[in-house]
Amino acid sequence: MNILSELKSRFRIVLSELVEDPAELLSMIRPAQDAKFGDYQANIAMPLGKTLGKPPREIAAEIVGKLDLNDICEAAEIAGPGFINLRLKDDWLVERLNRAVGDERLGVATASDPRTYVLDYSSPNVAKPMHVGHIRSTVIGDALCRTLRYLGHRVISDNHLGDWGTQFGMIIYGYKHFVDQSAYEAAPVPELSRLYKLVNQLVDYHNAQSAFPTLENELRARSAAAESLRNQAPTDDKAAEKKKKKELRKLEEKANEARESIASANAKLAVVTSDSQLCETATQHINIATNVLEETAKLHRGDSENRRLWDEFLPKCRDEIQKLYDRIDIEFDFEYGESFYHERLANVVEEFEKDGLAKESEGAICVFLDGFDAPMIIRKKDGAFLYATTDLATVQFRMQEWCPDAILYVVDHRQGEHFEKFFAAAKLCGYPDVELCHVSFGTVLGDDGKPFKTRSGDTIGLEALLDEAVQRAYTVVSQGDDAKPNGPELGKDERRHIADAVGHGAIKYADLSHNRTSDYVFSYDKMLALTGNTATYLQYSYARVNGIFSKGAVDITKLRDGGAAIQVAERAERALALELLRFSDALADVIEDYRPNQLTSYLFQLTKVFFSFYEQCPVLKADEEKTRNSRLLLCDLTARTISQGLNLLGIKVVERM
Ligand code: ARG
Repeated sequence: MNILSELKSRFRIVLSELVEDPAELLSMIRPAQDAKFGDYQANIAMPLGKTLGKPPREIAAEIVGKLDLNDICEAAEIAGPGFINLRLKDDWLVERLNRAVGDERLGVATASDPRTYVLDYSSPNVAKPMHVGHIRSTVIGDALCRTLRYLGHRVISDNHLGDWGTQFGMIIYGYKHFVDQSAYEAAPVPELSRLYKLVNQLVDYHNAQSAFPTLENELRARSAAAESLRNQAPTDDKAAEKKKKKELRKLEEKANEARESIASANAKLAVVTSDSQLCETATQHINIATNVLEETAKLHRGDSENRRLWDEFLPKCRDEIQKLYDRIDIEFDFEYGESFYHERLANVVEEFEKDGLAKESEGAICVFLDGFDAPMIIRKKDGAFLYATTDLATVQFRMQEWCPDAILYVVDHRQGEHFEKFFAAAKLCGYPDVELCHVSFGTVLGDDGKPFKTRSGDTIGLEALLDEAVQRAYTVVSQGDDAKPNGPELGKDERRHIADAVGHGAIKYADLSHNRTSDYVFSYDKMLALTGNTATYLQYSYARVNGIFSKGAVDITKLRDGGAAIQVAERAERALALELLRFSDALADVIEDYRPNQLTSYLFQLTKVFFSFYEQCPVLKADEEKTRNSRLLLCDLTARTISQGLNLLGIKVVERM
């Protein structure tokens, strides 16, 4: 049962008599910040007072008079200027909790009107090795998928693999010019990765070189404009001065951007110039950027040689990625990928033109959208289709195939503009009602506050990252085990098994516990800490509860099924009971705005409340059998909630640590 939504539905009845749309007011009903204000608080009388022109306390009294909450809450209290404080009845709490004890779903109801969701996540470009940047989309998407399913929604997960883009032009070019055949035969994927990297470096080098003059001109123009603004004599016109300041700031920002682009271009040049052999190769392949595009175009035109190479490379690349997914427990219903839509792209463009939604401009076919400066190009001058064209074909296919109510795209925030435009275009072309949502996320940073890279400046491969987390987890687990008062309990194999769950869990949880829209700093030490908001802490707590059962030789399943019941006498017991019942609220919060960190925060809070209960209320040594059983069941529900919650985040628990 979802307490908050139950309270809201009761309030809705009363509020609908007072205002037309109570949605915003309902969002102001929240768990109380402080237990002394009860369990929940409704701060709605103040804003209502303004709308209705009445004193808030009077309104609060009127609402409380009409509210039918008798079965759930004690009499509501009105505090201060008009806060409505609610305290759940102990009997009600206990009754709900005892139902949860006997319920596999822990009292979490499934949605009364299930929706159909398509989730587009992970979606790596397959010719390159997966790196730390891919972790976010993969784990956030997976957590949302699991949570939505658990709540009874129909979810179709579709990995929109980048299996058709320029990256294939790069490895095809690389293969034709630079392959080390014996290395390829021995281990094809590492050799293809090497080729990708090499060609990418060369393309970057030549692109940087040709971009230099423009970048420098830009910097010069912006700095000059800023300088001349700075030199203007100040006037008394305050508004004009303010405007000037703002403009100056903008110009300075732009100049800085140009400086950064120059620095990044310089870095790309340095990669090649610092290596004489690479330098020579670069001179031999002056037109590499154009040639790579040409290889891609040939593939798209159906050139038999390039198609044969693509057919040979693709399964190898996909197998490599699959190994990673298997390792971290990621599954998809479908992996159509970009190549699947290739045949449909011409048709998409044609339909847009036919419906008058796209026009030719300087040879390219463009969709002009209200509210955007630049149009969305769907076919380039040379006839090539774009990422956006594929996304339009994909939305058509998904609508026809699955009729979803919502499609969620879990993709890096840097693609924000693409999605805004693409969503606007999708609405235009016949899908005005489907919820299209860019579940965007920030960057994984290193200690230096810059995108996480190795010392040599390479992005960090996902596999190496996971290996290191597991290895460090092994050390954490072993140290903990060695320090046990009665000596170590775990054999090597068990330690390894635990280290897998802890290491992979740490990486996933660190990502999920940050608000997805923020950047976060990647730190093994922080994510593997035994205290604080980490998976390790939750896994350890779960194992600790299990430890209570084994220490007391308690058969917890028997207790669960055998008529023992939870009671709440102590304050700490009640606090834990209430927190346990909030699991359902937390899950609702996750899907409200697609934020898994709502669940991590909840689990962390639950665990803290649990330990404060455990400190204050003896369990195995409780005075009476009834109390002991009740407390054991509270421990059990806590462990089950942690385990279920972590499961929804794609993280495993271990029975001991
Ligand atoms: N392959 C793309 C990339 O790596 C992400 C694709 C996201 N999904 C989509 N439908 N556009 O940037």
